[in-house]
Amino acid sequence: MNTPMLRNRFLRLSAFAAALLLTGFSALHAATKPGKVLKIGFAQTGAESAWRTANSESMKAEAAKRGIDFKFSDGQGKQENQIRAVRSFITQGVDAIVIAPIVATGWDPVLREAKRAKIPVILTDRAIQTADESLYVCFIGSDFYEEGRMAADWLAKAVNGKGNIVELQGTPGSDPANERRKAFADAIVKHPGLKIIDSQSGNFERTSGKQVIEAFLKKHGKNFSIVYSHNDDMALGAAQAIEEAGLKPGKDITIVSIDAVREAVQAVVAGRINCTVECNPLFGPSVFDTISRVLSGEKVPKKIINQDELFDATNAAAALPTRKY
Ligand code: AHR
Repeated sequence: MNTPMLRNRFLRLSAFAAALLLTGFSALHAATKPGKVLKIGFAQTGAESAWRTANSESMKAEAAKRGIDFKFSDGQGKQENQIRAVRSFITQGVDAIVIAPIVATGWDPVLREAKRAKIPVILTDRAIQTADESLYVCFIGSDFYEEGRMAADWLAKAVNGKGNIVELQGTPGSDPANERRKAFADAIVKHPGLKIIDSQSGNFERTSGKQVIEAFLKKHGKNFSIVYSHNDDMALGAAQAIEEAGLKPGKDITIVSIDAVREAVQAVVAGRINCTVECNPLFGPSVFDTISRVLSGEKVPKKIINQDELFDATNAAAALPTRKY
């Protein structure tokens, strides 16, 4: 090919690339035009816990406050429902999609569809495993590993590094269950007197958590003195199972949990649960702030992590009056 032909081809390709970029960006900027009502889809996991209810309410309330045309879909605990919801958001031509992924894997195909449609995807609450990080704009949520580590460190101190533990896991394959389990196991390795003697999923639900502890009490009798629960709903179910077995939760059996929903913080004050590590679900404002920034073409951090605290007998009563969920 001679030089003028090469130059021509180069100019045509540059014009094509510029047009592609312009279409992509102008689509985003058009979404933020004054007076335009934003259309945003949210694929929620379900309604398995008090935490989840608070999270859904925070998203709905913030969307209403901002006058957003908010499409909320309850996945009812099934990934296929969430994937179907995302596809329907794409068909409806939403400006952005928010997903709280129930499990960590299996998202790439539908995220590729959203990317092809030039719809930005924000992951919230739970992270995913993907080889292509460009499939979503950013993740907003808590550091689940850190929560598991905080729970284990608190426990080791509280029981002087000694005791048999049973574990109530969250939804199998979910990011919080994976990370909270791993962090706790990594941390208690430093305490040879602490041992997990059994572990089962209670699916982040109160009734299932109660049933698992009833079964553990039958199977292990008094051979465990600690329950580590991946969330408060299961911990509250565990406390009930322990009471019904004629034992005192919080005294005969130490309960350490995660979420810090109001009812669990109240249970800490009452001495039925010993400790709950916060996992703040109220991130409606930060999700919609981030979407606005993304749609106006701003670059946002890949990870936006909430800061969480821990509640035990030393601070739970003082915290109760200002708890928002
Ligand atoms: O992903 C966050 C977890 O999911 C919360 O700890 C739990 O309560 C919820 O169901």
